[in-house]
Amino acid sequence: MQKQYGRIIGWGAYVPEKIVTNYDLEKTVDTSHEWIVQRTGIHQRHIAAPHETNATMSVEAARQALHKANLAAADLDLIIVATTTGDHLTPAVSSQVQHMLGATDVPAFVLSNGCTGFLYALTTAQQFISSGVYQNILVIGAELLSRYVDWTDRNTCVLFGDAAGAFVLQATEEACGVLGFDLGSDGSGSQHIIAHAAGSAEPINATTFDEGRHFIRMNGREVFKFATRILGTTSQRALTQAQLSLNDIDCIVPHQANLRIIQAAARSMNLPMERFLVKVHKYANTSAASIPVAICDGLASGEIKLDDRLLLVSFGSGLTWASAVLQMAPITEFAYAVAKTASPEVAELVSSNGFTH
Ligand code: COA
Repeated sequence: MQKQYGRIIGWGAYVPEKIVTNYDLEKTVDTSHEWIVQRTGIHQRHIAAPHETNATMSVEAARQALHKANLAAADLDLIIVATTTGDHLTPAVSSQVQHMLGATDVPAFVLSNGCTGFLYALTTAQQFISSGVYQNILVIGAELLSRYVDWTDRNTCVLFGDAAGAFVLQATEEACGVLGFDLGSDGSGSQHIIAHAAGSAEPINATTFDEGRHFIRMNGREVFKFATRILGTTSQRALTQAQLSLNDIDCIVPHQANLRIIQAAARSMNLPMERFLVKVHKYANTSAASIPVAICDGLASGEIKLDDRLLLVSFGSGLTWASAVLQMAPITEFAYAVAKTASPEVAELVSSNGFTH
């Protein structure tokens, strides 16, 4: 069997209608629009309405992605939902999504890895395609963090938003999709982003509830240091695996947590900020949804083109990190090889012959 790649044939994003601005938060916690913008770059976040759930947001994003892909839900071979904020502790929200989409009997699972979840899920989907097991896979990144945030804690409540993003991958023999990736984990930093009493180690009881130990708590400074240290390193590893360099990348899509972290990554990679897609001002940190939502927004605004080669890079709780080189539209092996080594003239000749790179 020829090598199989997972082409992104559909994408979709859903953000709740309700927008909460920094000015709104000024009225409820001791903070200011200026402080939030200066420290994070965030101007607003979308917050789910009471009737919305992780599953309903996931399904909205998935329906758009399936529509673009011109695929029925029943054509799917697998559904992966990257999330840490599913509707219930059990069952996994992926089964609800499968049922609501009408993807009868399609296998579905949750991949729970915080902000890196979507890239872990995307690279997992790629393995099912590379091995020839599945043809069509739906990958969703969805979070409803507003229900896990302590709205009286200014250290965390200003940072997060709700959203869902989805990709449909389809097997193809043409070189595209995930060309290289790097995943990593360092559990010694697990205390830095944690909801203490939301798991089996510390079951929720009256005391933990009163102390708010089921809410997300964060050591912002430590997370900041970790993120600025890891983003350049993991990006380089994914590029090396893809046998590419930063010069071969059209756009870098980092996890949208904090503008200062993206600026620090740009400095450490010696790149101007124009190379990075920034959407954190609109959506805040939507964890596993942040990268697919940013890509959908970038595609809609024209900042990302359909044949772009992207570098996706993320960090988050665990602590974990992930990066992937993602070729949106297929490139021929020939054009791929030429693009890596070509002079501008040869590259121009290749593209004028209908090959994109
Ligand atoms: N408004 C006003 N003041 C605030 C505030 C807010 N929303 N949040 C925190 N502060 C205060 C702190 O209480 C602290 O006050 P103190 O010195 O009196 O104790 C002061 O601001 C400085 O806090 P510090 O933690 O040093 O600020 P910072 O420059 O590190 O910025 C973060 C804080 C959270 C914005 C920053 O550390 C960060 O973004 N970290 C990464 C977080 C992240 O990305 N998490 C998600 C990972 S997936």
